[in-house]
Amino acid sequence: MAEKIFDINLGYISFKNPIVVACMAGITDSRFSSRFRNAGLIILGGYNMDEKTNQAARKEIERGRNEFVSEKPMEFLRSELEAVKDLTTVIAVNVRSATFSPFIEAANLAKEYGAILEINAHCRQPEMMELGVGEALLKDPERLCGYVRDIKKTGVVVSVKIRANVVNDVELAKAIDRAGADIIHIDAMHPDGMDIGVIKRVRNATDMFIIGNNSINDFEDAKEFFSHGADMVSVARAVLKDPHIIDHLVDEVSSFQKMTGWYNAPKHICGGGDLRALAFCCLPVKPCALHGALKQAGFTAEEFMKIKIDFTRGTPLEYGDGTCFGSMAWCCKITKPCFLRDSALTYSGLSDVEYMRIKKSLSEHIMNKRKR
Ligand SMILES: Cc1cc2nc3c(=O)[nH]c(=O)nc-3n(C[C@H](O)[C@H](O)[C@H](O)COP(=O)(O)O)c2cc1C
Ligand code: SF4
Ligand code: SF4
Repeated sequence: MAEKIFDINLGYISFKNPIVVACMAGITDSRFSSRFRNAGLIILGGYNMDEKTNQAARKEIERGRNEFVSEKPMEFLRSELEAVKDLTTVIAVNVRSATFSPFIEAANLAKEYGAILEINAHCRQPEMMELGVGEALLKDPERLCGYVRDIKKTGVVVSVKIRANVVNDVELAKAIDRAGADIIHIDAMHPDGMDIGVIKRVRNATDMFIIGNNSINDFEDAKEFFSHGADMVSVARAVLKDPHIIDHLVDEVSSFQKMTGWYNAPKHICGGGDLRALAFCCLPVKPCALHGALKQAGFTAEEFMKIKIDFTRGTPLEYGDGTCFGSMAWCCKITKPCFLRDSALTYSGLSDVEYMRIKKSLSEHIMNKRKR
């Protein structure tokens, strides 16, 4: 049996790693996607689930776009799920429909196959937008959230795929979270390029499971998303240019996880990291970016100190003679070289991975305490 390196779970789903193949309509069907079986998640589709969206897709094909078209969408979806049912990779199906009931039928089907249902609130092809489908849902959050609530009643794990910078992303993410979606899949697109800040904003404002997406071509790009709060990252166009990219990303993130114990650890707050990075912050004794972060988290400096001291009491982080603040509660990320902390780790018999695991628990504790 393959070694379990990651612990990424959501409802009835357990992902073997945080690398995702994002869907591309007319391309990512079961046959195309099966070659990416090393990925932690393959998103098939987007499938058109009713007559109207299939008609719109036919028009798109006439003007040269790829689309999946079917006379019998539900049977087609079942045959696609059937074709990938023996892969050891989690499957999601990205779906569009102008009418609501096909979402429920697709959700029941996805659940039957242990898959995820992804609502496409992303597509901006005019033929779809005219039907109120895809990106049009972002501008109608009540309808989108109503869909999420009703689809969740089937028990399926739900993802909502959004395009950033169309509406207020933080308000949208909060509404999607309240409606009960399990995953927000964010295409961090910005008119001037890619907007990594949207991942941080959503991370800071919600507890949602985030899949970050846009322009990931190598592990450095993926790390930008992870260190701003993404739980997983997805890749679309790059798999067309280099079909080995998924295997490379899986190898690299697995090595990184084995080495550090926290593959999506945040950057330090002063390096632009999200609020999870309060776990790495110093004692609040100097003017720096920490104070803005504390304000955002709703803590006074005293509350922050108490949270960290109380949490680390009785753990090896309590100690740290010779470190800047006398306790590793206030120490930096393991990837920041520091011989003072490393001596304290050696003295405590704590490995780098164990150190980071305690910092991760501390970070989760801090995030749970923040006031929103
Ligand atoms: C040809 C093509 C078709 C796409 N079709 C869909 C789709 O049906 N549903 C969807 O949610 N996103 C779709 N996308 C968006 C991608 O999943 C992804 O969000 C976008 O390409 C940005 O990621 P990338 O930079 O890795 O390509 C499509 C993208 C491309 C290039
Ligand atoms: S407290 Fe330390 S780690 Fe945190 S923002 Fe200030 S200088 Fe950076
Ligand atoms: S001892 Fe090193 S790791 Fe700890 S706070 Fe100081 S610089 Fe950071």
